[in-house]
Amino acid sequence: MFNKGVYWEMDELRIVIGSMVILAIATSVLVVLPYLLLEDIKTPEGLKPYTQEQLKGRKVYIANGCVYCHSQQPRDPSLGPDAKRGWGRASVAGDYKYDTPHLLGTMRTGPDLFNIGARQPSKDWHLGHLYQPRAYTPGSIMPSFAFLFELRDGPAKEGEEVVNLPPGYIKEGQVLIAGPEVLSLVKYLQSLDHTYPALKSESRETRDGN
Ligand code: HEC
Repeated sequence: MFNKGVYWEMDELRIVIGSMVILAIATSVLVVLPYLLLEDIKTPEGLKPYTQEQLKGRKVYIANGCVYCHSQQPRDPSLGPDAKRGWGRASVAGDYKYDTPHLLGTMRTGPDLFNIGARQPSKDWHLGHLYQPRAYTPGSIMPSFAFLFELRDGPAKEGEEVVNLPPGYIKEGQVLIAGPEVLSLVKYLQSLDHTYPALKSESRETRDGN
């Protein structure tokens, strides 16, 4: 038998108040605290906002699941040899100022792409590689995104972007035309360049100074 008035007894009021307290704690830890920590992060001078075209490409990147195989977060040398791999310096919060949602990624089936625009600026290379990765990197396990292109038996019309592939990947007389989505995607990839000096936050300076 329960003794009425025992302090741990659950009644409606205690359940309601208890759940509100837990919700308040969770909200401060998961919403308020991160907001306060990130609120005064400045925009690095070298970082440009995305153009409309690049933003369209960013949507294509999300829609085609590039983030499942590619990260966008080079790590500190103490955590891995990312800089030696040519992926760039460790990223800091300010580098993501214009990224909503951010595309940090968790898997690295392929290389980190945070600085691919600096490492590989060529439009032709990107278009060809997206059509057939194995034409550029033998043995690549990256899927072909051929459905973003049109293969046509005949000449290209004016204003269309013809893709130049290494010989042997399309039949003679055919032309490969890049669709609007893949053109925006390449504009986005070319914009991924965070090679300017990292913006130091105050807390980081204090930490480094210690
Ligand atoms: C199944 C995993 C997978 C998916 C999905 C994928 N990739 Fe890749 N990607 C790779 C691998 C593996 C490589 C390395 C081999 C190569 O160069 O093809 C690579 C290489 C690349 C490179 C060259 C990187 C460098 O440093 O040279 C670019 C650019 C790239 N991918 C872009 C994309 C884009 C854009 C998408 C989405 C449309 C995408 N990838 C989807 C696995 C993937």
